[in-house]
Order: sequence, then C-alpha cells, then structure tokens
Amino acid sequence: MPRIYIDTYGCQMNVADSELLFGLLGAEGFVRTGDPADADVLLVNTCAVRDHAEQRVLGRLGELKRFKREGGVLGVVGCMAQRLGPRLLERVPQVDLVIGPDGYRSLPELVGRARLGERAAETEFRGWEHYEDVPVARDHGASAFVTVQRGCDYRCTFCVVPMTRGPERSRTLSDVVREVRDLAARGTTEVTLLGQTVNSYHDGVHDFADLLRAVGAVDGIRRLRFTSPYPTDFTDRVLAAMAETPAVCEHVHLPMQSGSSRVLKRMRRRYTREGYLEVVRALRARVPGITLSTDIIVGFPGETEEDFAETVSLVQEVGFDEAYTFKYSPREGTPAVRLHDHVPDAVAGERLERLIAVARGIARQRNVVLVGRTEEVLVEGPAKRGRLLQTRTRGNRIVLVDGPGDWIGSYRRVRLTGTTGSTFTGWPLDREGVLVG
Ligand code: SAH
Ligand code: F3S
Repeated sequence: MPRIYIDTYGCQMNVADSELLFGLLGAEGFVRTGDPADADVLLVNTCAVRDHAEQRVLGRLGELKRFKREGGVLGVVGCMAQRLGPRLLERVPQVDLVIGPDGYRSLPELVGRARLGERAAETEFRGWEHYEDVPVARDHGASAFVTVQRGCDYRCTFCVVPMTRGPERSRTLSDVVREVRDLAARGTTEVTLLGQTVNSYHDGVHDFADLLRAVGAVDGIRRLRFTSPYPTDFTDRVLAAMAETPAVCEHVHLPMQSGSSRVLKRMRRRYTREGYLEVVRALRARVPGITLSTDIIVGFPGETEEDFAETVSLVQEVGFDEAYTFKYSPREGTPAVRLHDHVPDAVAGERLERLIAVARGIARQRNVVLVGRTEEVLVEGPAKRGRLLQTRTRGNRIVLVDGPGDWIGSYRRVRLTGTTGSTFTGWPLDREGVLVG
C-alpha cells in the first residue's frame, strides 16, 4: 500500500486540515507513515502568516526533497501554497503539487497526476467548502479539533489569512453536533471548536451561543474550548452561553494585537484599547477565574515608542496568563505594506524583547500564587522531555505529573507543587484527595 507522510506547520486549523488530508488519501488506500524515508507521498501543510513561517517551510522542503523517491510525490498545501500557487512550482523544482485550503478534494487526483510526472497548482476558492462528507482520519484520543468556520471576512491590515483561506463560511450547527456526537461515541471528552473569528460563527439560523450550548450538551463532552475568538464578537448571548454551559472551559485566547487605539485603527481592528478592556471585564465578570491568553504584534508600521508603551501598559493592566508576541512581518498584498513609517527591524526586535520580559513577569506572578492549589487535569500524553506526563487544567495551564502511561486520556486531580513561571509540576491525588505514590 502507498504511504503518506505529512508535516504540519502553523495553527490548530492546519492540524485539523492534515487529519482531513489523511482522510482524503486514506479513502484511496493510502496509509500513514511517520517516517519521510518510508513515504510515497510527502506533504507539507504550511502557514503564511509571517515570513519566518514560510522560510521554515522552504528549509523543510530542502530536506524532504532528498526523501522523494522515483515515482514519489512532494506536495505543498495550506496557506503558503495558496499564497504562492504556481510560483512555488517554479521556486522548488522538486515540488509536484500545490493545493490551497479550499482545493483539498483534488488531492487524490493531483497525486495520481504527479505520479505520472505532471505538476499542478490548485488555488481556487470555494466559499461553500466544508469537506462535510470527507472522513477525517483522527487519532481518536480524548481531545479533538472540530472546524466550525473556514475563511475570514475581517480585514486586519497586517493579515494574509483572508487572502489564503478565502471567504468566511460556517458549517451548520447540526453538522457540527453530529460530528461531536460521533467523536464522543469513540471516547472524545474534550473538543476545541476552530475558526478564524470563531465567535462570529453563524449558520444562517444559529449563532455561536447556540453552538456552544448544543455542543456542550452532547453526552460525554466534559471540556469545550474554542479558538480564536474576535474580541468584539463576545455578545451578551455568547457570554451567557459560556457562563451557563458547564463544559465550557475557563480560558479564552483573546487576540489584542496592540494596546494603542491609534495603531488598532491602522490595523483595522474593530475595537479601541478601552473596548478591549471592556471585553476583558465582561469575560471576567461572567466567567469567574477565567484565564486569558493573547496575541500581540510589535513594530506595526507607524508604531511609535508611545504606542508601544501603551501596549506594555495594556498587557500589565489586563494581566494575561500567557502572551504570544510577534514582530510585524510585511505580507505581500496586505494593506499594511502600503502604510508609511515602517519601523526599523532593530527597533521592533528591541521592543519585542522588552514586551516578552514584561509578559513573562506577569505570567510568573499569576502562576506562583497557584502553587498548592488542587486542579482537575486531563492527561494528554508523555511530556515533550523527560519521563513525566503532560496534563492540562481547564484554565489551559500545563502541569507535568509523574504517573503511569495508562492515565493518558483520563482526568485526575493534582496538587500544584511548583512552577517554572509558565508551566507547573503536580502531584496526583486520588478520589478522596489523598496523595498517591
Ligand atoms: N484570526 C486568526 C489570526 C490568525 S494569525 C486567529 O486568531 O487564529 C495569528 C496571529 O498571528 C495573529 O493574531 C497575529 O497576532 C499574528 N499575525 C498575523 N499577521 C501577522 C503579521 N503580518 N506579522 C506578525 N504577526 C502577524
Ligand atoms: Fe487575520 Fe484579522 Fe481574520 S487577524 S484571520 S484578518 S480576524
């Protein structure tokens, strides 16, 4: 049987899309391999959000082309594939096929043609595409990603995603619920709903509040997460659904981008600094104990030292539990590349370092006081390093625990025993609250 290998870069939606790609080729008799040397078809599922992400993909393609065997296929899919299209075929002569996020149905056909020596790029948008009938090839662990919305209709001036993922569209609530029921029947207990502005979900009849309630009501779903929401789409209905649906976890990723209203306006974000703070206050009022993470861009065109100081002060004022910080990366074709006053790289780099130090300090302060607390965790798998298990709290904190492998997929109570400032170590408690081990 022919074998397929996929490398996945970028966001959770790409992880979900790779499961879709495995499903599409699985239906054609392909089996999965984790070893590129063993593969007949090598795919790289790519991200285009920053230049750095694309450079990493180009580097990886340079490595993977060595594994391409006689009659083998090397393909690039995802956002970078959509952005560059046929230009990728010119740039990397060993690449046989290029497919954007709306063209995955053509994967089996293009693989077949590539095996006959044809090279092709498929980058058409299909504003209705949800791959509803494609069997997703999942690992069937305790956690699953479920894409509920594809594309993006917001037009943040820095962002390439509307150009790579096409127009926004939502799956119907009944299709999502059917998929979640199916997952629950196979043992999934934690679901993460995915969309670029996931809380703007609307299937024509139901909004995101309806979706949260419906998915949260599926038997067996103990944890419900979603990413990424857009700050101004937390309507009262959505907040109420979060507060009243026990499965919804006490964590929200709330992309902030900047703390300066002037910069936010130039980014075409739909909120001001004050508006963002209002959303934070509303979330904290409705969901006590909620943890907040965020995305921040520094060095956006025209960002002054005063603007940057406002970003730092908003980070301090909110008190994020985690912040993902990025240096602005100009993306061809986005409105921001035409703005004036580009910030010199060295200045942006220095601001990034200052911001990271502030964000780390705040996360540490918030985490240190939690040591000694008892939390429910889901055991996700072996830790990346060492022989401990990686687990996660409802608030999205990572806790490393010493325990047997057969705990993977189960929920445990642990006492937090220490923190690095960002992750924790924990001690498992049994049902009666007695220490185990
Ligand atoms: N709506 C999507 C955004 C995807 S991009 C989501 O929230 O999942 C993810 C993050 O990358 C953005 O929140 C932003 O902080 C960052 N980003 C996007 N375009 C960028 C650019 N041109 N330069 C630097 N960072 C960028
Ligand atoms: Fe990008 Fe803004 Fe949409 S960050 S994905 S254009 S909400």
